[in-house]
Amino acid sequence: MAEELHDPISYELISACSDYISRRSQHRPKIGIICGSGLGGLADLAKNADVFPYSDIPGFPKSTVAGHVGRLLLGELNGTAVVIMQGRFHSYEGYPLWKCAMPVRVMRLLGVEHLLVTNAGGGLNAAFNVGDIMVLKDHINLPGFACNHPLRGPNDERFGPRFFPCNDLYNADYRYLARKVARELNLEGIVRQGVYTMVGGPNYETVAELKMLRELGVDAVGMSTIPETIVAHHCGMKVFACSLITNMCVVEYGTGIETNHEEVIEVGKKRADDMKDFISRMVATIANNECNGGLAQEAK
Ligand code: HPA
Repeated sequence: MAEELHDPISYELISACSDYISRRSQHRPKIGIICGSGLGGLADLAKNADVFPYSDIPGFPKSTVAGHVGRLLLGELNGTAVVIMQGRFHSYEGYPLWKCAMPVRVMRLLGVEHLLVTNAGGGLNAAFNVGDIMVLKDHINLPGFACNHPLRGPNDERFGPRFFPCNDLYNADYRYLARKVARELNLEGIVRQGVYTMVGGPNYETVAELKMLRELGVDAVGMSTIPETIVAHHCGMKVFACSLITNMCVVEYGTGIETNHEEVIEVGKKRADDMKDFISRMVATIANNECNGGLAQEAK
């Protein structure tokens, strides 16, 4: 065994987490939702919720960031059983990426087949505005370029194969449905699509870094999501993700504009209702779509 192999969370530990939860809840969700910074309000819409503070779930990491509550809820959103992560784990908190993504595997063992992920991101695409919702078409796994990857280390085939493609990671049909949902909710003007990248944080990026990312074709930048969506895709979930653009990245020197966490949370609060409507309608649409024997023909 190579010395540097990380301390993988075993299948047994992850099943112990999922058993702990399923023994205490009647809900059997097929849809999972991860709420990003300031976007956890979606959980308030969950009916008949069973609530599990992360600190109560044996083996679960704990969340430490302002704006992240740190609990798992199983309940019903518009009549559909869901599991919601209210608060996630970030690399800058000190967690290795496999630990940031570990709750996704717990969701998988709970029976989740579809994962919806939200985050707060900085807009790099000059056509974006603060408050836009960017649906992820693709990502650039920047930490992965430096071998910092949630699946680094021994592979457990019970979750998925060692090597796997990522060219269709963000489900195309769900992205199509997102456009439809945006039209239905009159959010067409603010729902965009683009390429996301993850930086480690906790600092916001330098001007030179942002210029480089823009050259690479990045539309929005954040500090999360990619570990979770990769691990979800690896274990066979269908993935949808979107970024709330909480600030525009500052790509010039001397503007006096400073990105800060308070601004990120503030925009999250302002757009919280639109984001809640958007995600809960996506849940209903996906549930309806999958119940009706798979993907809607119109999505093809
Ligand atoms: N950069 C990185 N992460 C972020 C940003 C940003 O500008 N805004 C919100 N999360």
